Amino acid sequence: MTTRFLKEWFAKPIRPRVITLGNQKGGSGKTTTAMHLMVGLMNCGYGVGSIDLDAKQGTLTHFIENRRRQARLSAMPIDMPEHGQIESSLEATVADAEEDEASRLAETLNSLQHLDYIVIDTPGHDNFLARLGHILADTLITPMNDSFLDLDVLVRLDNDGQRITGPSSYSVAVLERWGLRMLVSGTPIDWLVIRNRLAHLDNRNNRKVEELLKQLAPRLGYRISQGFGERVVYRELFPLGLTLLDPMSDDAAGRLSKSRGAARDEVWSLLTAIGLSEQPQASETWNKKMGLSLSISRYAKQPQEAPESAEAEQQDRDPKTATPSSHIAT
Ligand SMILES: Nc1ncnc2c1ncn2[C@@H]1O[C@H](COP(=O)(O)OP(=O)(O)O)[C@@H](O)[C@H]1O
Ligand SMILES: [Mg+2]
Repeated sequence: MTTRFLKEWFAKPIRPRVITLGNQKGGSGKTTTAMHLMVGLMNCGYGVGSIDLDAKQGTLTHFIENRRRQARLSAMPIDMPEHGQIESSLEATVADAEEDEASRLAETLNSLQHLDYIVIDTPGHDNFLARLGHILADTLITPMNDSFLDLDVLVRLDNDGQRITGPSSYSVAVLERWGLRMLVSGTPIDWLVIRNRLAHLDNRNNRKVEELLKQLAPRLGYRISQGFGERVVYRELFPLGLTLLDPMSDDAAGRLSKSRGAARDEVWSLLTAIGLSEQPQASETWNKKMGLSLSISRYAKQPQEAPESAEAEQQDRDPKTATPSSHIAT
């Protein structure tokens, strides 16, 4: 059943591009990245679907529920993705449970077939649905926090953290799913590793993590892309079902303006790393929607505005994040 459903999916002449968020570790930023990608893609004018395979936590589904409520209450237009959630099966045997989960996932995918993108959120542990989510990924995004603890998801290091001694179980799992995908679809997974919650202060630890990630990239076959900095603006709008990319009142926009601009550029940078199908049109729609022109030179030319909070103040002092677009450009 599983192979048949995957073969049928990959045989479709036109199908949405699937972006899966995966990392066998909770709290690395999978759901946060999924939320911002979904809204970012909708802001580019794409039809977007989402699937929550982490039904136990259900965080992405809660975000969508909050967003639906907000859309009813708000005078602002709020785009909605078409959302599905796949619960774990209650069937007694492993074979029956897998059959049941695969058929519900197939049904949901088929119902989203008319869209441009499907964003799949997976749990922070390995299970059958997470495995399918990885095989389906045209693009797999693995967010990881900026520490040796998180690097452990990709690689084993020697005791002093200086030398790579071997891959981790998650890397092995991704490579295995990559192979399975090649067998059923003939196409590889484009694997992107991003660093989430990047510290605003440069330190030796960050640089070491960066160096090791670069060393490992050609061995495991992933690309590294800019992730999101540690910013309150990425999490504070969750109860409203909104993101910093959504239309908001002048009052809220004014309060969030500094970190919102920097965060907006970080999301755009990730969108372009994914490789939008019609980028010029997408960026034009995005610019119109955001009401602000997004240009690489915007931050380079203008002096940084005064910080709005202690957090922003720290950001502004940080040479790495004070001019977010400058490292998009490099
Ligand atoms: N870039 C960020 N800046 C600030 N907080 C973040 C950022 N990314 C994630 N978080 C917060 O970290 C926690 C875990 O993120 P989440 O996306 O739920 O991870 P996962 O889905 O991998 O378990 C949440 O409280 C979220 O709001
Ligand atoms: Mg999550």
